[in-house]
Amino acid sequence: MSILPTLPTPSVEARAASDALHAHICTEISQAGGWISFARYMQLALYTPGLGYYAGGATRFGEAGDFITAPGLGSLFAQTFAQAITPLIQQGLNQVLEFGAGTGAFAAALLLELEHTQALPARYLILEPSAALIAEQRQTLTQHAPHLVQRCMWLDRLPQLSDTVIIANEVLDALPVEAVRWDDTGIFSRGVSVDQQGTLCWSLRPASATLLQGAQRMTVPTPYESELGLQAEAWIHSLGESLQRGVIFLIDYGFAAQEFWHPQRNTGTLMCHYRHHAHTDPFYLPGLQDITAHIDFSACARAAQAVGLDILGYTTQASFLIDAGLLNVLARTDPNDTRYPSLAGQAQRLLSPAEMGELFKVLCLGRAMTAPPGFGRGDRSHTL
Ligand SMILES: C[S@@+](CC[C@H](N)C(=O)[O-])C[C@H]1O[C@@H](n2cnc3c(N)ncnc32)[C@H](O)[C@@H]1O
Repeated sequence: MSILPTLPTPSVEARAASDALHAHICTEISQAGGWISFARYMQLALYTPGLGYYAGGATRFGEAGDFITAPGLGSLFAQTFAQAITPLIQQGLNQVLEFGAGTGAFAAALLLELEHTQALPARYLILEPSAALIAEQRQTLTQHAPHLVQRCMWLDRLPQLSDTVIIANEVLDALPVEAVRWDDTGIFSRGVSVDQQGTLCWSLRPASATLLQGAQRMTVPTPYESELGLQAEAWIHSLGESLQRGVIFLIDYGFAAQEFWHPQRNTGTLMCHYRHHAHTDPFYLPGLQDITAHIDFSACARAAQAVGLDILGYTTQASFLIDAGLLNVLARTDPNDTRYPSLAGQAQRLLSPAEMGELFKVLCLGRAMTAPPGFGRGDRSHTL
């Protein structure tokens, strides 16, 4: 039974914004001859200025929003990350670039901890496409780390980078994916059309040459449906082109190819999040729900190697955080301290295999650098 009828009802204003985005998408589909690719749909649903999920004014993160990311749990994630980054800054990587900085909570907690470890970078750069989120990030940093705000700079495009630590937590999963169907008659792009009732619906077209090139690499039993993260691969390629020396941390949920393209994962990994309910209908209330897909980390590693980046490590979030020193950070707080229960709760959610510990992975790439802390034990690079 579909869970959609049981989801919370949006406010009148939110519903009107979603209806406006729906109309905008239908117009584009009609102008495109009745069909757009799923990647284009996802781009419109998430990033249409003023109306898209990440570009509108709604609360997305935290209890009042739709989902919680690791930085939203509290400071422990960023504080532990700072332990992995500190030696890199001491080796001369004197700036940090965070992609998709969400509420700004990670940036604030990371900078405060790097101040504590005496490894403050000269500059903290943020590349964020959403104007609404940039405003939120500025506010968070001003509130929690006012004396460090002058080190922060918001970029509108990727510059040439040297001596930089790059971090992207849950950014890859927000990049539009192509939806693909393999069956006995061929390989198809699962795109989006409008049905006779005026409702958005799935619609198949033969795969384009680019899509075919990616899809033919996969050996899957038919029928099979899944997603190809071609934009994620292109994004990693451009990072590799711009980075002369540095380290890149990509943190997200996903698997190496063998697990991602498992015969039983034959309905793909698309997932939508609306007010803490997860479901699989990407056409539900466009603009009001997040749409994501899991990451094929083997494809990311391949894209990185193709542009000359080294794979410095790949492991689960739990293994990374423990190896980087999460327990030492936790041990700084007395168990009788009133802040301890919150920190212990964060550790549980970050590390537990039933929560974020196993599903989330950390892929570390680099150029002219060796592996940072976090990958000493439990490195799974050989599985990529
Ligand atoms: C799921 S949120 C994660 C936010 C934050 N990193 C966190 O962990 O809470 C995805 C973020 O990626 C941003 N984003 C999407 N596409 C991006 C791109 N091409 N470059 C940089 N950021 C992007 C979104 O605007 C949003 O801030």
